[in-house]
Amino acid sequence: MANESDTPLDPGSGDLDQLLIFANTETRRQFIKQIAGTTVAITVGLNFVSASAVATASPAAALPTIAGNDTVKANFKLNGKDYTLDVDPRTTLLDALRERLHLTGSKKGCDHGQCGACTVLVNGRRVNSCLTLAVMHEGDEITTIEGLANGEELHPMQAAFIEHDGFQCGYCTPGQICSAVALVKENHANSDDEIREFMSGNICRCGAYPNILAAIKDVKAKST
Ligand code: FES
Ligand code: FES
Repeated sequence: MANESDTPLDPGSGDLDQLLIFANTETRRQFIKQIAGTTVAITVGLNFVSASAVATASPAAALPTIAGNDTVKANFKLNGKDYTLDVDPRTTLLDALRERLHLTGSKKGCDHGQCGACTVLVNGRRVNSCLTLAVMHEGDEITTIEGLANGEELHPMQAAFIEHDGFQCGYCTPGQICSAVALVKENHANSDDEIREFMSGNICRCGAYPNILAAIKDVKAKST
């Protein structure tokens, strides 16, 4: 169940305006970097956490372990770093990311594989992280929204989402961007209909679909 901090922005609160009415490109760029770095940037509006805070998420050696005898080790590479976690074998990958590693960019929307908010890349393929267990990813390479940017340089898909206003509240955005990145790599962005079809697992309740489509088309055009 999503915690309180994951509640989408209240459009009437004023926070949304401050997030969405950007005076210039630089401000918007800063915002998307916040998206890339942390859930909080999107979900509680002005309560931003800097990208550097995420960058300090510690690898295995610094992670706490769960007391008791019912844990198993989960070993995987996450955003370029090796991690070992002692987890309850029933722990989903999404919960491991959010609750153990504090990488809250991947969102818990439905927790039932129906919304795509939790989408991450596993060995380059899109996966609903709420539907898979952490222990199932032994040796896998996992990329979350926090791992897409190259230091200070946004991933082209992140930049395109800014340029084309591909988000409103931003709650679905990390999952949309992860899906979109894989979509282009899969060469499934060859027409509007194809993009819509291959993005159909990512729901946007704000209805930013035309802008998301434009962002993906832009990245596709620049990649060919
Ligand atoms: Fe995983 Fe909705 S939270 S698909
Ligand atoms: Fe609000 Fe997609 S931008 S749910």
